[in-house]
Amino acid sequence: EIVEGAGQILLPGFVDLHTHLREPGREDTETIESGSAAAALGGYTAVFAMANTSPVADTAVITDHVWRRGQEVGLVDVHPVGAVTVGLEGKQLAEMGTMATSVAGVRMFSDDGHCVHDPLIMRRALEYAHSLGVLVAQHAEEPRLTKGAVAHEGPNAARLGLAGWPRAAEESIVARDALLARDAGARVHICHASTAGTVELLKWAKGQGISITAEVTPHHLLLDDSRLETYDAVNKVNPPLREASDVAALRTALAEGVIDCVATDHAPHAEQDKCCEFAAARPGMLGLETALSVIAETMVAAGLLDWRGVARVMSENPARIAGLDDQGRPLAVGEPANLVLIDPDATWTVRSAELASISTNTPFEAMTLPARVTATFLRGRITARDGKPSGAF
Ligand code: DOR
Ligand code: ZN
Ligand code: ZN
Repeated sequence: EIVEGAGQILLPGFVDLHTHLREPGREDTETIESGSAAAALGGYTAVFAMANTSPVADTAVITDHVWRRGQEVGLVDVHPVGAVTVGLEGKQLAEMGTMATSVAGVRMFSDDGHCVHDPLIMRRALEYAHSLGVLVAQHAEEPRLTKGAVAHEGPNAARLGLAGWPRAAEESIVARDALLARDAGARVHICHASTAGTVELLKWAKGQGISITAEVTPHHLLLDDSRLETYDAVNKVNPPLREASDVAALRTALAEGVIDCVATDHAPHAEQDKCCEFAAARPGMLGLETALSVIAETMVAAGLLDWRGVARVMSENPARIAGLDDQGRPLAVGEPANLVLIDPDATWTVRSAELASISTNTPFEAMTLPARVTATFLRGRITARDGKPSGAF
């Protein structure tokens, strides 16, 4: 089959280091199948499915299931992220070695959903991961500072009477784990960086030669906490939407390479968990199908990145961070490729009802955004085309 690409942009397939697919456990909000369709439509050829499923992905039984199901669906490589610890107490390390050497070949472990409170456990996790050659991705939240928090701690939350989540809850963990990684000689990856202070800490740590990388979400690059005015729970997310000055710092950091990559933190939720009172609603936003357009708006249209730069932050850097060897490298002639074809001049209006995701909690509803994925290719096979996942067009 021939796909015409005149006037369009061809990039290596996108890699999302941070996706919540809700299978097993909450298949009413997303499945590996529906999430894979959303990923393919968003231009992704690999996603990393976070461990906070039910049950938590803390054994090879679960991580292997996720990988196998992803391959069966065949729209995107679904790499399971293993949990760092077993159980909610977070006192015991998971069998990372078993997960890493099993069918799924787990290469990333995270505390997302289960913060590792204890610096000693995190230190051991970093050492263990280092010995296995795998990565620890840190959700970067000090839970004793975020207890009860629902919004960024600042003038907006104060005015609206919403309990505040301080910047220090994120920054103290970024600083702590940068130092723990330094001492362990290990790598650490910071999930969803959201504050100007985190940017400064990343600059400092990288300047010291610490092996630290970081991601930023599309929503933290576009939205700020002035959105909370309406108390619409679609704007509730962890970490919370910050202030305009944080948004500006995050954009610059991504343009300059202080933040390495974009990750969606795609977090589907059921309507009943999002349409209640702000304080009671679950945190999280859809991201897979809108990521490219939000990056086109916040980074390309803003003159901060060119399309070569988009390839860096959405494909090459995340592939390198996760140690994927089949993404973002020069291909031999005739080798089946992971690619995304983009119409840079298209615009579209986001309609949650038209998204492939089972859930509808997009904060970009009714926004008109630039650039659209025309086709996605996984190892040379079309997985999405003209807004439809393979099998549907
Ligand atoms: O907003 C969020 N939602 N942040 C997270 O870290 C977890 C996620 C979820 O699982 O819903
Ligand atoms: Zn998180
Ligand atoms: Zn997450």
